[in-house]
Amino acid sequence: MRKNIVAGNWKMNTTVAEGVQLAKEVNEALANEAVNCDVIVCAPATHLASIAAVINQDKLGLGAENCADHASGAYTGEVSAAMVASTGATYVILGHSERRQYYGENSAILRDKLALALANNLTPIFCIGEVLEERENGTYNEVVKTQIEEALFNLSAEDFSKIILAYEPVWAIGTGKTATADQAEDMHAHIRATIAAKYGKEVAENTSILYGGSCKPSNAAELFAKPDVDGGLIGGASLKCADFMGIVKAF
Ligand code: 13P
Repeated sequence: MRKNIVAGNWKMNTTVAEGVQLAKEVNEALANEAVNCDVIVCAPATHLASIAAVINQDKLGLGAENCADHASGAYTGEVSAAMVASTGATYVILGHSERRQYYGENSAILRDKLALALANNLTPIFCIGEVLEERENGTYNEVVKTQIEEALFNLSAEDFSKIILAYEPVWAIGTGKTATADQAEDMHAHIRATIAAKYGKEVAENTSILYGGSCKPSNAAELFAKPDVDGGLIGGASLKCADFMGIVKAF
């Protein structure tokens, strides 16, 4: 059966020292109490090796927030999937709406990133989600289906099964405006049906689909209680150990 997962996305926050401290705190909190989900932190690339050295990855998974769409070579400033893997991290967020919006990442680029991540044994946390206009004009189901079809449906069922999905309605990210639990459940059920139509019911039932967008300790339990919501991808609230653990304990 699919896993319940709470993953933090620190985005462009914390220095190395601050990030190591935060990861240590989360690691310690997890060492001291049993939780009912997998927990992951996704940190800036500069932090990964230092964090990998101080956490127990049996308790706390570690991921990058992005990787390059090329394997290696003259791509100044880029960080490859192999480099991410060499830090000890085992996850990578791909297709975050901030990457799509500010850095022009489209489905063709994301297909290349996904292939490289998988080739380097990284587990992609693949983000999808509509913008406010698409929510308001009613095209959101179609938009998200297209994002999935374009970026993922070239994968074999075996490779698709390695991916974690994160539904992040762009209008809910960093805005304090969370999707209601019913809105999240409707979309997650739609995503699972889309997967089932392509790869079959078993693959769909085994895919973890996380919700992201202003998820916090006060709303996590209601979201996670929905049958197709398998956890959260947490931005702002992942930057404080107590808040992040409050969400983890919602399971
Ligand atoms: P917030 O939790 O800050 O809204 O961010 C969500 C997100 O983008 C996680 O990837």
